[in-house]
Amino acid sequence: MTRKLFVTTALPYANGPFHIGHMMEYIQADVWVRFQRMLGHEVHFVCADDAHGAPIMIAAEKAGKTPQAFVAEIAAGRKKYLDGFHIGFDNWHSTDGPENHELAQDIYRALRKQGLIAQRTIEQFYDPVKGMFLPDRYIKGECPKCGTRDQYGDNCDNCGAVYAPTDLKNPYSTLTGATPVMKSSDHYFFQLSSQRCIDFLTEWTATPGRLQPEVLNKIKEWFAVDEHGHVGLNDWDISRDAPYFGIEIPDAPGKYFYVWLDAPVGYLASLKNHLAKIGVDYDAFMAEPEVEQVHFIGKDIVTFHTLFWPAMLHFSGRKVPNHIFVHGFLQLSGEKMSKSRGTGISPLTYLELGMNPEWLRYYIAAKLNGRVEDIEFNPDDFIARVNSDLVGKYINIASRAAGFIAKRFDGVLSADVGVEGRALLDGLRAQRGTVQALYEEREFAKALREVMLLADRVNEYVDQNKPWELAKRAGHEAVLHDVCSVCIEAFRVLTVYLKPVLPALAAQVEVFLRVEPLRFGDAARALGAHTIGEYKHLMQRVDAKQLDALLEPPATELPPPGGEPLAAEINVLDFAKVDLRIARIVECAPVEGSTKLLRLTLDVGEGRLRNVFSGIQSAYTPADLVGKFTVVVANLAPRKMKFGVSEGMVLAASHADETIEPGLYLLEPGPGAKPGMRVR
Ligand code: 2FM
Ligand code: ZN
Repeated sequence: MTRKLFVTTALPYANGPFHIGHMMEYIQADVWVRFQRMLGHEVHFVCADDAHGAPIMIAAEKAGKTPQAFVAEIAAGRKKYLDGFHIGFDNWHSTDGPENHELAQDIYRALRKQGLIAQRTIEQFYDPVKGMFLPDRYIKGECPKCGTRDQYGDNCDNCGAVYAPTDLKNPYSTLTGATPVMKSSDHYFFQLSSQRCIDFLTEWTATPGRLQPEVLNKIKEWFAVDEHGHVGLNDWDISRDAPYFGIEIPDAPGKYFYVWLDAPVGYLASLKNHLAKIGVDYDAFMAEPEVEQVHFIGKDIVTFHTLFWPAMLHFSGRKVPNHIFVHGFLQLSGEKMSKSRGTGISPLTYLELGMNPEWLRYYIAAKLNGRVEDIEFNPDDFIARVNSDLVGKYINIASRAAGFIAKRFDGVLSADVGVEGRALLDGLRAQRGTVQALYEEREFAKALREVMLLADRVNEYVDQNKPWELAKRAGHEAVLHDVCSVCIEAFRVLTVYLKPVLPALAAQVEVFLRVEPLRFGDAARALGAHTIGEYKHLMQRVDAKQLDALLEPPATELPPPGGEPLAAEINVLDFAKVDLRIARIVECAPVEGSTKLLRLTLDVGEGRLRNVFSGIQSAYTPADLVGKFTVVVANLAPRKMKFGVSEGMVLAASHADETIEPGLYLLEPGPGAKPGMRVR
């Protein structure tokens, strides 16, 4: 039976280029999709940019662009990555496309009709300067427990305390520096806590084959009933107030869908857009019961895909997902390479270095399994897998035999290869079911291990039969012909098994062998007395230097630390000219007529007090500084200023561009330092 598959990967936020974690997911899904197509199944494989939300709106504003122009620029950069790594999406769309606006609003209306939308007034932090409600990530302040400054609204980096943004002391908006105020506003909620939703999700999640067992276990924890009889699902706040880059909520002026509501709808929107291009009716397609909806996602977005999304679909009368395939993260030397952290490996640098994209596809596939496990990118392992396995075991089979077939036998393969050769080939063909089952289960590492074991068998056969010796011995033409024909035929069967992972290489092999595009079933049949084409070298080995270059991007690509390059080099004597001393702030007051300066009265242990002006008013309240210790340049020539004479300079840290990273940080010595001590 031919399957009809609608397959997606998670929609990436349109605020930055792809990193290696995206490519891993795309490679995983692409291998599975290509495998399904090789079985003759119909697959529609789509993705899109996740365009909406406050972070993208703010990033666009900083870049001086409209959000639409901003996301369009990001979208324009996608193709070189996708083509570069042979990711064969049928369509790339945007959640800001018209299909998504319409679908998201339709789904919302249907949920409202079902009585599953509630309206409640909630209080939230609001930035009075910016005129917008502040998502938690834009609020910082002092830890309510230990007082450490500049902590985010959920937990403290210093003492690890966990709290709500409203618990922060002296909170400020990172967008404007303003003190946020509490403001109330009406929000719309999807009533996930309703019994109807709980009943549906309990059944949906437990349907066999839908979720991996470890994912189901996690979900069961979320459903757990606590000692008060409360089921652990809360209603979901799906609205945001203007200004917001998103989709307007019907009949609610100034309200937009929270980005996570319309993001998964983008799967449907991209499919709809794709089907329109190929002349298929979207509604008819989605009404076909045999269509299977499959989402590949990372382990960080499981709740959205196993609770919110299926419930939205079900209660709006739509098809629900058949499979959610969850993968772990890709780590480099133990470091997490996820979306927000650094990546370690730039996919674009990889391509620019001229590294073969199929090395990476092969390496990643050789690591992947069907469970939610992190996988590791290990450079030495990468070299070993590609050079020893892929090139050493597989490619070599063809290169050892092809020349003889061309030169000695006019490119024609021998039809009857003898008992030993046939046994070898039968053995290879017999593994088709195993390899096929492993691909189906996304057990790619196991599938490739099987294939490499088969390649080992073929290489043993070559080593035993030694075609290079047969070629030198008179009267052994027929044996040479058989041995080399077995190698070519074995190579073809292995190519079938590897084609989901190595599509470009397989295409070259198809040209070389003069065969139609290989399908999975082609592993079973024999080529017979077939004429093959000319062998051209199929794949280079990796050079360790390429990996070094990949892992250590040239220094020029890194932004300068703190936003500015280091100053010209100095020697110890130069440094010794600067006399830095510990100072105690005895008094501190604002300077009348200045919005920048504070007047500091400092004790530098000299038996007198110094007067120093410092441009730190934006960051400090005078009263908070009294009694603090800091560092002063004590031998700076006194400077006459509008407000008086400044006798030194206190040290503070800041980013070169205060519009990117606002904040000034007065230097403070460790405990115990006394006024007058020299800093060296
Ligand atoms: O986590 C993310 O990167 C989201 N942009 C994924 C969205 S997946 C789907 F729901 F659109
Ligand atoms: Zn703390």
